[in-house]
Amino acid sequence: MDSLVIEGGARLRGSLKINGSKNASLPLMAGALLAGPGGGATFLRDVPNLSDIVHQIALLRELGCEVERQADGALKIEVKDEKDSHARYDLVRKMRASICVLGPLLARRKYARISMPGGCAIGDRPVDIHLRGLEAMGAVIDLDGGDIIARTDQLTGAEIFLGGNFGSTVLGTANVMSAATLAKGTTMIESAACEPEVVDLANCLNAMGAKITGAGTPRILIEGVEALHGAAHTVIPDRIEAGTFMVAAAITNGEVRLENCRLDHLMAVVDKLRAIGVIIEKDNGGCTVASVRRLEAATLTTQPHPGFPTDLQAQFMALLSIADGNSVITEKIFPDRFLHVAELARLGARLHKEGSTVIIQGQKKLIGAPVMASDLRASAALVIAGLIAKGTTTVMRVYHIDRGYEKIEQRLINVGAKIKRVSQEELEL
Ligand code: EPZ
Repeated sequence: MDSLVIEGGARLRGSLKINGSKNASLPLMAGALLAGPGGGATFLRDVPNLSDIVHQIALLRELGCEVERQADGALKIEVKDEKDSHARYDLVRKMRASICVLGPLLARRKYARISMPGGCAIGDRPVDIHLRGLEAMGAVIDLDGGDIIARTDQLTGAEIFLGGNFGSTVLGTANVMSAATLAKGTTMIESAACEPEVVDLANCLNAMGAKITGAGTPRILIEGVEALHGAAHTVIPDRIEAGTFMVAAAITNGEVRLENCRLDHLMAVVDKLRAIGVIIEKDNGGCTVASVRRLEAATLTTQPHPGFPTDLQAQFMALLSIADGNSVITEKIFPDRFLHVAELARLGARLHKEGSTVIIQGQKKLIGAPVMASDLRASAALVIAGLIAKGTTTVMRVYHIDRGYEKIEQRLINVGAKIKRVSQEELEL
């Protein structure tokens, strides 16, 4: 129950290296299951040290994998046995993304038992589209005691429309694409998610012997093969971490160089930042982000990639809360993803929520206060607001932030922030 205590007012200056992507690593790690015993180990470089990764490692070990961090930091994943194909509630409830072992287990082992993910702070998150995609390939899916039970004698290639009410599904695409690699025949996924994390998974699966084309577009073709084998792959940089640090540099009128940052994964974000007055200069392998004056107001709507990412919505709300003028944010992916609104208001932000739209009246300043983190990206937004809020901001329950940002306070200190992690006991003193 640690907290982060932030003294606002410091301009961020210096350089930061962006870590490998959490959201790419999780399905990549699940993909290693497809190699099977004797198929050789998969080596994943740049997998970040995060609590979500620790959970996925624990799950893979329960599913018969040997998982080790190598001396060079790479994660070695080798399937030793396939006796246990049950992803238990105790693990899945800690991290919904565990669902991405469903497709690989079903395709490889013809059976999977996965606890149905429960409620989530950012809103309703069903997995009906995942199941629909697998059923289209011939899987038989039942629900028993809160578990999804998927069986098949052999998956068969199919034409699958994977779109939903809120557009495409990222992990749904990962699950169906992974399963189709070992199906008989060819699968065509229409309305597939185009996120860079899906492309990264396809590249790794192709290195394992799969035949996937069209990843990164709404139509993906997968020609099923007999077997896959281990491979070595380097995870893409974390675009949401990069976007978060861009906002931190911009809100403090700082100047920060981001190393290992792919701007081609952040086009909508860079476009929005430049539109409000942030300077972003691309260079070899990264960019420099700077702002020198009060930023302008903006209107943004979250969309599936390549649109504006929902995982940066909260951080931009903090940024626009001190912009010059009224801004409007509409959340189209997770319409209830607004737990950060009340907490930002505690810092003096003027926010008016109507349904899945928030109108932001830009203020000249925010004032430090104790606030409560509710989910990963909301906690990042509160830290960002604390960087400029007058006085002290205490962000409580930062275990949320440790799920997606490695040693965030140390990295912010390295670029000049006044921030420290304190335990519950220290806080009470
Ligand atoms: C991934 O979640 C990310 N998580 C999320 O990041 C991210 O917010 C989300 O994609 C959208 O970009 C990981 O990659 C581990 P979706 P995912 O399925 O795949 C609805 C973070 O902060 N839907 O693309 O679970 C769903 O409710 C996390 O790092 C269905 O209706 O999201 C949502 O409204 C948070 N039925 C929309 O689709 C389904 O079967 C998009 O969700 C599946 C999804």
